Amino acid sequence: MSDRTFHILTFGCQMNVNDSEWLARALVARGFTQAPLGKARVNIVNTCSVRDKPEQKVYSVLGRIRQATRKLPDAFAVVGGCVAQQIGAGFFTRFPQVRLVFGGDGSAMAPQAIERLCAEPGLRVSLLDFSEEYPERDAQLQSGPVPPSAFVNIMQGCDNFCAYCIVPYTRGRQKSRAADAVVRECAELVEHGAREITLLGQNVNSYGQDAEAARHATTADGGKAVTFAELLHRVAALPGLARLRFVTPHPKDIAPEVIDAFGTLDNLCPRLHLPMQSGSDRILKAMGRKYDMARYMDIVQRLKAARPDIQLSTDIIVGFPGETEQDFEDTLVAMRAVGFAASFSFCYSDRPGTRAAMLPGKLEAAEKAARLARLQEWQNDYTEQCLRNMVGTDTEVLLDGMSKKPDMAPGGGHDDGAGIPGGESWQGRDPYGQPVNVVLPARPERGPAGGPEGWLGRIVPVTIVEAKKHSLRGVLRA
Ligand code: SAH
Ligand code: SF4
Ligand code: F3S
Repeated sequence: MSDRTFHILTFGCQMNVNDSEWLARALVARGFTQAPLGKARVNIVNTCSVRDKPEQKVYSVLGRIRQATRKLPDAFAVVGGCVAQQIGAGFFTRFPQVRLVFGGDGSAMAPQAIERLCAEPGLRVSLLDFSEEYPERDAQLQSGPVPPSAFVNIMQGCDNFCAYCIVPYTRGRQKSRAADAVVRECAELVEHGAREITLLGQNVNSYGQDAEAARHATTADGGKAVTFAELLHRVAALPGLARLRFVTPHPKDIAPEVIDAFGTLDNLCPRLHLPMQSGSDRILKAMGRKYDMARYMDIVQRLKAARPDIQLSTDIIVGFPGETEQDFEDTLVAMRAVGFAASFSFCYSDRPGTRAAMLPGKLEAAEKAARLARLQEWQNDYTEQCLRNMVGTDTEVLLDGMSKKPDMAPGGGHDDGAGIPGGESWQGRDPYGQPVNVVLPARPERGPAGGPEGWLGRIVPVTIVEAKKHSLRGVLRA
């Protein structure tokens, strides 16, 4: 049958989002087209199992897909990502419409497998093996311009086995990608219109510290594995790259050279997501995080010294087994001391096979929820305060699209509010990654990548005039 339509639903972290985007491009390159859920033949769910909730979501989504594709006899489902790696072929028995399961390392082979499944209706495939090497994937640049803000994988997997975490089991051992391949992909993206690049990895700054990295070392590297700091310097030096970011670093592997890079690399953005998880040494030790609060605060101080305007954000787990009221208070105190501009916080969730799942001292769900609410209340106020502090400052905004809601101007938005007749509402991000809305004069000419996008991918000088709950509003500076 000739129906080659697909739909992808993505859960989880930026690595999954990046994998899904690559897969979509690879399928389009093979002649597939995107279709809405319920209309597509191939229904792909890219899954996350970091907590119980996202895992459960997969099962309800598969039920929804089955409902939506009732009238499409050839339709089938594909499960990728971390729940696929965790449950594996179990999906085939529980959900007959699932015909392919693939894990992180299997994604490189998924496009070929999907093609085969379309041609051979009785077939089922699982791609769950971990590869020894970094699974390099074919470059699948869009034929047109790439988004102004692009993501590049530099490593896979994790060797840390934090007590609560399933990622080392679902993503396998740490494997660094060859530095040359990283720099080449970044250079191609910049050539095609990317202005900002975010380097991705589960422990992005542990880059270079594995056997795979040593294997990639070339004579040009002096025969030694390229370090994360060296990679940052190489990518930052690409002509035309306006902004560089990376996510997610692990505090235990923040080298002094990486801290220095915040002071020396102009295009390295002054914002860092640095997961703290807890402010209590006792809990950090039980979590197996391999740093204590003295070390964490020392990194924070040195980052602030290298780049005084740096903003930090973090991840926190509330209610790890054995967490006392005092441990939790310590977390709140540490959060205030650092002054995180934002945080992602979660109730501890048991994950099968992890060390923490076997620990005594589990907290009641209600207790965890109450602590989480207290923490988030503080964070919401503090985040709003950080945004309010930006009002009146000058900044630069990288424009990444037209605003969805034209109501950003005072008084309802039909007047542009900036005295610009026929102005267009655009959205973008400041160097801290904060979303900023700005009204700009209509710009019919072509964008930097030649497309009819007008302001897309341009960086404009803006004065911030208003802080909303989660975003800022600015006006163009003359
Ligand atoms: N590699 C990153 C984080 C990856 S997982 C790091 O080391 O920080 C993303 C976040 O999910 C973690 O930072 C943690 O806060 C949260 N998380 C992971 N396992 C969890 C669990 N079992 N329960 C609750 N939150 C969890
Ligand atoms: Fe999970 Fe810890 Fe690895 Fe992060 S460092 S992915 S929290 S095991
Ligand atoms: Fe989730 Fe896997 Fe990412 S568990 S957070 S999708 S690495």
